[in-house]
Amino acid sequence: MFLGLDLGTSGLRASLVDEAGRIVDTTEASYPVAHPHSGWSEQDPADWIAACQGTMAALRRTQPKAFAALRGIGLSGQMHGATLLGADDKVLRPCILWNDTRAHDEAAALDALPDVRRLSGNIVFPGFTAPKLLWVAAHEPDVFSAVAKVLLPKDYLRLWLTGTHVSEMSDAAGTSWMDTGARAWSGTLLEAGQMRAEQMPDLVEGSAVSGRLRADLAAELGLAGSVAVAGGGGDNAAAACGVGALAEGAGFVSLGTSGVLLAARDRYAPAPETALHTFCHAVPETWYQMGVILAATDSLNWHARITGHKPAALSAELGTAIGAPGSLRFLPYLSGERTPHNDSAIRGAFAGLDIATERADMTRAVMEGVAFALTDSLEALKATGARLDRLLAIGGGSKSPYWVELLATVFGLPIDLPAQGDYGAALGAARLAMVAVTGAKPAEVMTPPPVARTVAPRADLTPAYREAYQGFRALYPALKAVT
Ligand code: XUL
Repeated sequence: MFLGLDLGTSGLRASLVDEAGRIVDTTEASYPVAHPHSGWSEQDPADWIAACQGTMAALRRTQPKAFAALRGIGLSGQMHGATLLGADDKVLRPCILWNDTRAHDEAAALDALPDVRRLSGNIVFPGFTAPKLLWVAAHEPDVFSAVAKVLLPKDYLRLWLTGTHVSEMSDAAGTSWMDTGARAWSGTLLEAGQMRAEQMPDLVEGSAVSGRLRADLAAELGLAGSVAVAGGGGDNAAAACGVGALAEGAGFVSLGTSGVLLAARDRYAPAPETALHTFCHAVPETWYQMGVILAATDSLNWHARITGHKPAALSAELGTAIGAPGSLRFLPYLSGERTPHNDSAIRGAFAGLDIATERADMTRAVMEGVAFALTDSLEALKATGARLDRLLAIGGGSKSPYWVELLATVFGLPIDLPAQGDYGAALGAARLAMVAVTGAKPAEVMTPPPVARTVAPRADLTPAYREAYQGFRALYPALKAVT
């Protein structure tokens, strides 16, 4: 039996997975995010531990036999957070999360240094870990001088579980302290970020054993045997493990609050200038690249809130099959944009409103705008040499047949819809534990989900959508000029 723990931004999700890879049970515990100032986003690491204790106790209660047979734990979680520990492993201040933008000046300064993009493979985004430490150095010097270790959120959970300071490649790649091609901390990047090597945790591969559950904790949980804790992965790497996106050609499009287009890569092909993220995957000698748009279903939710309708009802108004694109364009930059613009100041727009424009036209424009924004990521991925023959669609927005056919048509790729089930990061984390414990090959364990339906691109409409996409692309510079 294996346990996948996914330490998300709003809560911790724990899935118990049997030896055949099937989810036996899943439970969740939530915790708050504090926003003490505009742009700040923090969490108390003690809340993560409490959530972990709560979910493990719940699974032990509901699945006593399965829980007692636990052999391995895998960890996944929100990336980029800075958990600062003193010499006694005590937390020095609240964790600064991935969506905290206070370090924008420090990020820009680091990003401008000649070696930083070359070695890390990425733009230094304000939410990444390194600029946060520079902010702490400038604004909380007493805290900064007391930092003995910096841990990513899920790695703090590992410290509690195992007593060891360990991270793994996929999460470490999101710090801007790692040489992502070499899969090792970079002396040059640590120096640029005013950090020392001994402040970093040791690194393992995500599918390797990182430590063992503390004996006292195991006894408290009624676990007799030795329980291994695998390296695990950052949330997107672990989600890719959950849907079997490991090898070149495999990838997924996720229509959640934000939108992600992820491609697994068998080589390191960074393209920081495109604002794609290039990170180590959670299995050896593999990387992944992804484009992130900040408002995917969030755009439709916004439109629903403004019009006083439910998102599903708005989507249903368009029917299930697409027609020709509308003439109204929507730019979904409601919270700024990551890929391809790396622009936190830009905001969204409708262009081409007509006296005859109806609510359904606006809904169509919103869904098209999200599809076009994700096409920017697809184009950037293709330019790095990524080969994508088809994509799996996941996330709440993939429940709209209209949206999925739209994506397939604009992308020019077939899109697979998985059968009902849970294939998220918690499953991916449990699968990483299974590989670490059994020594099985990752590809044998991390299989794709059964496909319920494949949506083909509407070849007859592709030229019209490609033309509309070109119009969408032309609008960003115009919008930028007035923002
Ligand atoms: C990835 C990213 C998010 C966080 C939170 O770069 O910022 O996916 O990991 O989910």
